Amino acid sequence: MDYPIPKVLMVEDSAPLSAVYQAYLKHEAITLICVSSGADALQQLPVLQPDILLLDLHLPDMSGLDILRFLQESTLGSSVIVMTANSSLDMAVEAMRLGAHDYIVKPVDAERLRVTLRNTIEHRRLNALVSRYQTVYPREQFEGFVGASVTMQSVYRTIETAAPSRATIFITGESGTGKELCAEAIHRLSGRQDQQLVALNCAAIPKDLMESEIFGHVKGAYTGAVSERIGAAGRAHGGTLFMDEVCEMELELQSKLLRFLQTGCFQKVGSSVTEQVDVRIVCATNREPLQEVAAGRFREDLYYRLHVIPLHLPPLRERGDDVLRIAEVFLQDFSREERKRFQRFSEAARRALLGYPWPGNIRQLQNVIRQIVVLHDGTEVLFEMLPEALRVPVTASREPVLAAVPEVSAPELDKSSIRPLFEVERTAILHAIEACQGNIPQAARLLEVSPSTLYRKLQGWQQQGLVPNDQKGLMPNYQK
Ligand SMILES: Nc1ncnc2c1ncn2[C@@H]1O[C@H](COP(=O)(O)OP(=O)(O)OP(=O)(O)O)[C@@H](O)[C@H]1O
Ligand SMILES: [Mg+2]
Repeated sequence: MDYPIPKVLMVEDSAPLSAVYQAYLKHEAITLICVSSGADALQQLPVLQPDILLLDLHLPDMSGLDILRFLQESTLGSSVIVMTANSSLDMAVEAMRLGAHDYIVKPVDAERLRVTLRNTIEHRRLNALVSRYQTVYPREQFEGFVGASVTMQSVYRTIETAAPSRATIFITGESGTGKELCAEAIHRLSGRQDQQLVALNCAAIPKDLMESEIFGHVKGAYTGAVSERIGAAGRAHGGTLFMDEVCEMELELQSKLLRFLQTGCFQKVGSSVTEQVDVRIVCATNREPLQEVAAGRFREDLYYRLHVIPLHLPPLRERGDDVLRIAEVFLQDFSREERKRFQRFSEAARRALLGYPWPGNIRQLQNVIRQIVVLHDGTEVLFEMLPEALRVPVTASREPVLAAVPEVSAPELDKSSIRPLFEVERTAILHAIEACQGNIPQAARLLEVSPSTLYRKLQGWQQQGLVPNDQKGLMPNYQK
């Protein structure tokens, strides 16, 4: 398939820096157009319709964030790479929330600029491929996944389009959402399935053994190294290396991993011989990788190398009826395994499964169904057979926001202090968002509701003019 040469618009107010960046990008297969102010950028965007915007966040006439907001409301669909000073990482995080694809810290390194740009181009190319899959009908199952929700359809399409490429895939998602299942699916569809998928859990291996786990060691490299050992990178040659919980890796080892990713070369612990392998990297984390970077726990340059194709697995509570579809498959499987007769869920049991927020996601659902099948008998799963946590009234489990409202637990039982429930809820939510500095996913986590619940409520209040003025500045971020 042929692709047009990507158009890149660079917004950089410093003429010398702009000239340097242009020189860095001289040999890239792009059409580069440069402007030096926010106003020029806003004027050029609709005319040029660039594929990619290289955006300095500190412009003389406006903040780069204003341009991001403009893009968010437009239908241009340009991918934005922001460039920012090291001291304003918070701004970069804010930019990512406003839809920026990636960011580069100034002073901009030539290689980093090129790698980030190429990654973004590759990402757009794959996205374009994904949307060309016109003939694909909603699927209820895919490579071990059960689920027909819209969000899962796009996960399936990303997996099948990205799998055959060599690009690194960065999987994020809460615990139990299927990250490992995803890595297995990618490997099976990669064309590398005849070689090994080697999984390495960076959280489970003691830190002083980690380097040897990845790269191997020679005999006598350290006490206890009684014979030579091939590490995960060596065993994955020709196949896939899955680095699970990658954000848990020690900083020192992160730099060794980075070198390996850049060159494909490594040395066993205790050896001076350089070995070269061909591996495809898939990594996963249940943390927010950018926040790990901002907190200094994850190397920014490693993040750039790994974050080529992002793949987010939504929490189960955001997958609608998929809860029931998955529960039904588990019920069939476990009934067969345990030689039980269960075939379906009663209406009340279905409602309870749908109403529960599933903090442990699919793994928790799996455990719950296994427990029911083992402990009970019959053909229909009744409400009474569900574990206690699922049997609380739906409103209580869905709306635990009340627990966060100080007013409710006020000791004096004064009727005049009672306020309408909707007002109490709104106060609690706005308070939580403010406390989290506008970070909706974090506020949602603390309130134990899904981010989409917060976005929905906020939008409703905005339409009714119920959000205080000082909160309105946050509103564009609420659109997700
Ligand atoms: N959509 C799905 N349909 C059916 N089974 C699923 C689905 N997603 C995950 N599973 C199953 O749920 C279990 C948990 O999945 P997995 O181990 O891949 O999650 P994870 O995101 O890696 O979790 P953790 O963060 O805790 O490591 C596995 O047994 C997996 O096969
Ligand atoms: Mg896992």
